[in-house]
Order: sequence, then structure tokens, then C-alpha cells
Amino acid sequence: MSVFGLIGRSLGHSFSRSYFTDKFKRESLPGHRYELFELAEIGNLRDLIASTPGLRGLNVTIPYKQEVMPLLDVVDPLAAAVGAVNTIAIREGKLMGFNTDVEGFRDTLLPLLPGLIDPDSDIRLRALVLGSGGASRAVGYVLREQGIRFRVVSRSRERGDLSWDMLDPVSLKVCRLLINTTPLGMHPDVGSLPPLPYAAIGPRHTLVDLVYNPPETQFLMFGMERGARTVNGLQMLHAQAEASWRLWNT
Ligand SMILES: NC(=O)c1ccc[n+]([C@@H]2O[C@H](COP(=O)([O-])OP(=O)(O)OC[C@H]3O[C@@H](n4cnc5c(N)ncnc54)[C@H](OP(=O)(O)O)[C@@H]3O)[C@@H](O)[C@H]2O)c1
Repeated sequence: MSVFGLIGRSLGHSFSRSYFTDKFKRESLPGHRYELFELAEIGNLRDLIASTPGLRGLNVTIPYKQEVMPLLDVVDPLAAAVGAVNTIAIREGKLMGFNTDVEGFRDTLLPLLPGLIDPDSDIRLRALVLGSGGASRAVGYVLREQGIRFRVVSRSRERGDLSWDMLDPVSLKVCRLLINTTPLGMHPDVGSLPPLPYAAIGPRHTLVDLVYNPPETQFLMFGMERGARTVNGLQMLHAQAEASWRLWNT
């Protein structure tokens, strides 16, 4: 039996189990299972591993992508540079941490860039990254790699460059790429959304939501109503899951 799974505090929103269960069926991999492991605290990780025979790999989600790092035997250089781990491979009893959100977000962002960067204009593309958690760090890594200037919006000035109340219509007009890395709008809290001056959003904007459940969050719907291009987190989910799968089989 080969067991894989997702750890996080509350996992009702997750599509990972159905993604991997379908994949194991499609690729005729009997004896493979993907489970959801809700952990009240990350300190319970070693107990989970000890009590789950055949466990070969884990994905990590809210709120443990950073907290899990000190518990690992090895953190690969990309995950260390990002400062967040979303994939653990268990190799010969050792816990190895990786970050596949970087690959997942890159896969989502690159096809969007031709519509965002005007080669005839001197005006550089600017982005706002909403939230400062684990996924935000992966997004920031990719934006830096692509030479896109960005600012992080946080509830705390210690964790971000801007607080929400500092966002006015002008700052939104200047930043044509808005990326939601907060859980606002995610199932079951589908009525919530990042507090932005939405009237400043228009057809020149691209809104990316890392949330994929529901597929159209309030954030994306408000953008759509104003003519913006919108993309949800489904493609990123698939790309980061496939990258995790490759690491578990290395
Ligand atoms: N599509 C994908 O493949 C994919 C991959 C990764 C993550 N995600 C999604 O991205 C979201 C974040 O995941 P994560 O792992 O980065 O979680 P996380 O580490 O808990 O970070 C979320 C961040 O959002 C901000 N936040 C949380 N609650 C908020 C609230 N009520 N109001 C305003 N800001 C709030 C916080 O930033 P501040 O403390 O700075 O305010 C927090 O650090 C989740 O919805 C997750 O499902 C999707």
C-alpha cells in the first residue's frame, strides 16, 4: 500500500483527494490511496507518520506551510528560498520538504503575461499580492523571477508592505495584476472577499484567485462585472499536484 495525503487544520475545501483518487484510477495504480489528515496542531505530524503505515508523501496546506519547516529533516533550496513547504516526501524515514506552489503558480502566470506586458510601453507591470502566508511567498518568488514589481497587502504592516486601509483607487489603477492569496471567498465562507475599492478595476486588469472552490469567488465575479480578465486556482492546483507526484516518485 502506498499512502499519500494532505495535512492542514480544516480540509473541507480541498479537491486534492478527488484529484489523486481519480488519477490513481485513471493510471491503474491499485494499492494507492490519498487521505485528508486534519491536524489540530502541527506538532502531531510525527504521530501521524508513525501511525500511518505506507505513508510516502504529504501535501501541506493552511496554516502549516511555514510552521512545518523546523520539523523536517531536509528542506530543499527552493523551498528554503521561498520560506514555505507544501510538499513532503518521506524517503527512508526522512522527511524532505519541497515547494511545488512555485511551479503551480508559474504555470498559471506565464500564459497571462503576453496580455499584461506591453513591449511598446515604458510602464512596467505592477502587481498587488493580497495576503502574506505560504502561498503568497511562492507567488512573490515567481513575480520576482519574472521581474514584476509587486507589493504585499496584509492585515499587519509587519508582514506586508501595505495594510488594507492603505489601498485607494489610485493604487489599484496602477497595479494591473491582482493576486488573491488569502482564503477570503473560499468554501464555506463564499460570501467573503478581499476589501478592495473594486470600482477602480477595469478591463486592463487581470485578477488571479488562488482559491478554486468555488470556481468563481466574489473577488473574481466583481472583477468580471468590471470587464477584467479573471483566472481561478484550478490550473495551479493541478500543476502543483503533478509536481508533488513527481517528487514522491523520485
Ligand atoms: N490553487 C492552488 O493550488 C493553491 C495553492 C496554495 C494555496 N491556495 C489557496 O490560497 C489560500 C492561502 O493559502 P496559504 O496556504 O497561503 O494559507 P496561509 O499560509 O494561512 O496564508 C493566508 C494568508 O491570508 C491572509 N488572511 C487570512 N485570513 C484573512 C482574513 N480573514 N482577511 C484578510 N487576510 C487574511 C493572511 O495574511 P496576513 O496575516 O498578512 O493578513 C494569511 O497569512 C487558500 O485559500 C488556499 O486554498 C491555492
